[in-house]
Amino acid sequence: MWSATVLSLFPEMFPGTLGLSIAGKAMKNNIWSLKTINIRDFSNDKNGKVDDVPFGGGAGMVIKPDVIDKALSSIIDAEGPRIYLSPRGKKFDQRFAKSLSEEKGAVFICGRYEGVDERFLVHNDIIELSVGDYILSGGELGAQIVLDATIRLLPDVIGNSEGLIDESFENNLLEYPLYTQPRVWKDRMVPEVLLSGDHKKIKDWKLKQAEKITKLKRPDLWSKYKKS
Ligand SMILES: C[S@@+](CC[C@H](N)C(=O)[O-])C[C@H]1O[C@@H](n2cnc3c(N)ncnc32)[C@H](O)[C@@H]1O
Repeated sequence: MWSATVLSLFPEMFPGTLGLSIAGKAMKNNIWSLKTINIRDFSNDKNGKVDDVPFGGGAGMVIKPDVIDKALSSIIDAEGPRIYLSPRGKKFDQRFAKSLSEEKGAVFICGRYEGVDERFLVHNDIIELSVGDYILSGGELGAQIVLDATIRLLPDVIGNSEGLIDESFENNLLEYPLYTQPRVWKDRMVPEVLLSGDHKKIKDWKLKQAEKITKLKRPDLWSKYKKS
């Protein structure tokens, strides 16, 4: 079973969206498991304080290295990389999700306030991962994004794995446009080729559309696709 361990000051945010739909079903089916650890339980302080002011001044508070390190050290049996959700980390993408799905699990460290003491990250050789160029209030939603994208790639989570092959970012292409019933809606027709039953023609159309959309909307992906 793929195991997720989450260190957070707000463990009640989990499973959150991960308890529903595809990820929720996969959890019920024992394809993945979730364990949360409350960082506050490792405070040295009688009031449960986990943070302090930054040396050198500056806004906000910083999570203390000894507290977060004790929380991390309490995990002895968790598999996989130790990941700190961080705006300055490597940008999360489909390739990272794929590689994570091939591990036995992962440990997610969710920051709050201004973040965690740098020494904790260096000492433990932590991987830093960003979910985009914006600032969230904490790492919990980031961890849920990474987990959602990863869990759907685990074996037997998505019934028809053909569906995964055509998804956006596979082979550096965005997905082709999708259509369903009715055939005519507000005078707009479903493209004729999709009704033709000619599998070869449909496949070619899908590829051409995916190429056209990628070229138009994501020139960065398009140049990777052309190179590959
Ligand atoms: C308010 S943020 C801290 C921002 C930090 N002081 C900075 O300027 O980079 C609090 C926590 O949210 C998480 N976080 C915020 N934005 C994120 C992002 N784009 N990707 C991943 N984690 C993020 C991190 O765990 C971070 O420690």
